[in-house]
Amino acid sequence: MANRHFGKIADVWKHAALAEVLEREPPGRYAETHAGSGAYPIVNDREREFGILRFLEVAPRFAALARSRYREVAASYIKGDRGVYPGSAVLAMTMLGNASSYLLCDLDQNSITDLRLWSRELSLHNCDVAEADGMAAVATWLDGESRQPALVHVDPFDPDARAPGGYSALELAAHVADSGARLVYWYGYDDAGDQAWAHRRLATLTTTPLWCGDLLVTGASSGPGDLGVATSPGTGFGVVLANLQAETAAACAALGMALADAYADAVLPDGSPGGLAFTSHASENGEQGQDPARVH
Ligand SMILES: C[S@@+](CC[C@H](N)C(=O)[O-])C[C@H]1O[C@@H](n2cnc3c(N)ncnc32)[C@H](O)[C@@H]1O
Repeated sequence: MANRHFGKIADVWKHAALAEVLEREPPGRYAETHAGSGAYPIVNDREREFGILRFLEVAPRFAALARSRYREVAASYIKGDRGVYPGSAVLAMTMLGNASSYLLCDLDQNSITDLRLWSRELSLHNCDVAEADGMAAVATWLDGESRQPALVHVDPFDPDARAPGGYSALELAAHVADSGARLVYWYGYDDAGDQAWAHRRLATLTTTPLWCGDLLVTGASSGPGDLGVATSPGTGFGVVLANLQAETAAACAALGMALADAYADAVLPDGSPGGLAFTSHASENGEQGQDPARVH
């Protein structure tokens, strides 16, 4: 297992937005550059108590969260016999089934083994699990001849890391956007001043219109955040979408606003009050800015 951060609040937002996209615009081809393991045994620590466990507890009271497929799928795996948190690949495989083909990339052998087990478990006919650099493998996959609508989920630890001569995750994301394929790009940060940074950087690499939904952890302390501790104020994370319908972005915005509402009375692990501030950002033809109506 190469992803120690499963089920934290950053995963909740990433996976809730991804599920919303998959439900509204299901692709015929789905690829992940950084797939991680299929699923992770759930743990009841403070990070998950603020993340997936609190989400499942409060979601029924907020319409956009209550009806999300993410809630349904995550709850079924966590409360099921196995007691596991589904990673992005299992979330996608569960939602899309054999209506889609898959390319799932990772460099970690344990993650690859787990993804293959889940592909068999879910009886998928066309699921390629590749122990390979995700940027190189997905770039080749994208240039293939299939006419099925494609969606690429790019979820890197390091947005600028690259194999010699290859794309970085940010460059690959811009290439995906330019190709016309649907893009879901995840990013994180540990300084409140970096809100929506990936949107700004991607907008310099592509003229394709982008939408960004950003959540910042808030609290009494104003110190720098820590992406490894997703409950620290000043930590933030978001998703950047491309080539998706305006209604899909609006539904993701509704989810982000509902999450901010649902965490309005949250308590951080140190006992102090905490919350989530949601902002959305949209760009047209390389121009990017913030729609004040979307600050929440
Ligand atoms: C944050 S985890 C992925 C989580 C997963 N996408 C989810 O949302 O459940 C990042 C993964 O990227 C993998 N990784 C790191 N560099 C990679 C690369 N160049 N190509 C493919 N996978 C990579 C790591 O092994 C790790 O499993």
